[in-house]
Amino acid sequence: MSQIEAQKRVLSGMRPTGRLHLGHYHGVLKNWIKLQHEYDCFFFVADWHALTTHYEDPRVIEENVWQMVIDWLAAGINPGSAALFIQSKVPEHAELHLLLSMITPLSWVERVPNYKDTIAKSNDRDLATYGFLGYPILQSADILIYQAGNVPVGADQVPHVEITREIARRFNHIFGRDSGFEELAEEAIKKMGRKSARLYREFRREFMEQGNQESLEKARAMIQEQQNISLGDRDRLFGYLEGGGKVILPEPHALLTEASVMPGLDGQKMSKSYNNTIPLREDPDEVAQKIKTMTTDPQRVRRTDPGDPGVCPVFKLHEIYSDESTLGWVREGCTSAGIGCIDCKMPLIDRVLEEQQPMRERARQYEENPDLVKSIVAEGCEKARTIAKATLEEVRSAMGLDYR
Ligand code: TRP
Ligand code: SF4
Repeated sequence: MSQIEAQKRVLSGMRPTGRLHLGHYHGVLKNWIKLQHEYDCFFFVADWHALTTHYEDPRVIEENVWQMVIDWLAAGINPGSAALFIQSKVPEHAELHLLLSMITPLSWVERVPNYKDTIAKSNDRDLATYGFLGYPILQSADILIYQAGNVPVGADQVPHVEITREIARRFNHIFGRDSGFEELAEEAIKKMGRKSARLYREFRREFMEQGNQESLEKARAMIQEQQNISLGDRDRLFGYLEGGGKVILPEPHALLTEASVMPGLDGQKMSKSYNNTIPLREDPDEVAQKIKTMTTDPQRVRRTDPGDPGVCPVFKLHEIYSDESTLGWVREGCTSAGIGCIDCKMPLIDRVLEEQQPMRERARQYEENPDLVKSIVAEGCEKARTIAKATLEEVRSAMGLDYR
């Protein structure tokens, strides 16, 4: 596959750790929903990654897998636009993980931020395992097996994309320069025909000698348009263009998701571990109840006491959900004791319920018909496997494992 096609492909995964909540929606899913219209998207459930830390309760993972897919669909991920699949149903990831592990220096995985921290902090389970050490290599395999150019992630995952780039670079460096690479590249140039060959050489020289980025882009576009060259030749032409070897595994880019500031019910970041979440498919009465019982400005004890929205968790949620005029009404009413806290919470409850309404509706058909979810995932797995298999074949052959 070419690098230009790689740029069109987006891949991301989520560990099945429990019901998704509004923090996931605002932080991750809204972004996925936008991307699904712009790119060729692959979204998967990283059940093996969950197993690296939760190997003692695998049954929980199974339940979470299906609930998470329903949450995605409920949020508006469209299975017609994005392939949805489960990591362990595409075992090709595991083979690539193994092969990449052969060339990944131990020091690279050991120095991934958080690795040693997480082990030190996890007093309830033993994470000094081989599997957990391999977490970033498995993630690299997830990405590289689709030759995905773009990986939407939050800041915490950027080091994982970074190590993926390093592993890809090392792989291409070691295995992309099969003997006779230059001769083969020269032959591939000729196969493009006289005119294109001349242009290719010209663009290549302009890029190699003057670093002319535009020439590089033009040459790439030209290779892209070639109809009659093999996949191998295409990779060679791309690699040779930049003075490197064959690009077998293109380096991905992190599409950094804007840091989400979704506040939870207590004003801290919304997170399952703080027990302050509103799940995506929460029952409406439960949502209203949770908001009604939220703590407010602790100084505002009586209805007649003026309050300070600046220290109130309810106001933080208003800032996500309400328009300017409502925010003005809250500020004015709160600081003058003109409104009570329940008055203040009512429009917020309405907005949250309004946001969830279409999610609940979409979810219903999937909750009532689990087979529908399974068939969507089966289709996504099929699509994923076709690509994964093709990449793996290239990888095996580059590593000299294509004997019969
Ligand atoms: N490690 C990611 C997380 O915890 C999940 C993940 C696994 C992932 N494989 C991936 C994300 C590949 C992006 C691409 O959120
Ligand atoms: Fe918070 Fe609103 Fe009560 Fe003011 S009126 S303290 S902003 S809940």
